Amino acid sequence: MPDISDLLKNNEKWAEGVRKDNPEFFETLALQQTPDYLWIGCSDSRVPANQIVGLEPGEIFVHRNVANLVVHTDFNCLSVLQYAVEVLKVKHVIVCGHYGCGGVAAAMQNAEHGLIDNWLRNIKDLFETHEMLFRGIKSDTGKVDALCMVNVIAQVSNVSHTTIVQNAWDRGQELSVHGWIYGIKDGLINDLDTTLTGANQVPAIYRMAEKVS
Ligand code: CO
Repeated sequence: MPDISDLLKNNEKWAEGVRKDNPEFFETLALQQTPDYLWIGCSDSRVPANQIVGLEPGEIFVHRNVANLVVHTDFNCLSVLQYAVEVLKVKHVIVCGHYGCGGVAAAMQNAEHGLIDNWLRNIKDLFETHEMLFRGIKSDTGKVDALCMVNVIAQVSNVSHTTIVQNAWDRGQELSVHGWIYGIKDGLINDLDTTLTGANQVPAIYRMAEKVS
């Protein structure tokens, strides 16, 4: 494992390498960021957003938390979403979960983990709501992976239910919300084919009233 001082040395080498390829890289980037994508992913160290989709600094706005949740009372995630949609005007919001998520696995157990149990309660609720889906799955890892997918789909819905996204669609802003899942074992992302592109794909109860101008 690298020593903490190695990280700073690595950084120097990295910056030097980038400058060698593109001498203007940092100067240009310092002036502005214009990412087209917002990534909402898990904090898991094995799922680094930029690297797995091959994007450079400046190309993707990132929010990560344990088990890639979008909770309607989480001002941190909502602030990121608002800034990304309203100021940066990203065109795509990607919720990317991953198989074998430790947060999801912990939510399926009854052990106490402390403060984080409150956060993981959101996933327990999903398991309870969709309990029928998991009955036919025999292995625990199979159940965790299935819940990882259900969780991504639920978070895509949560993104689409926010006033931030609803108002963007109402303004006619181009914005898609995608649900992806990453395989730690093979490095590949699966699109869960749950993309939402407009309020008409959102259940009526969550839609904001259409504004009359
Ligand atoms: Co995870």
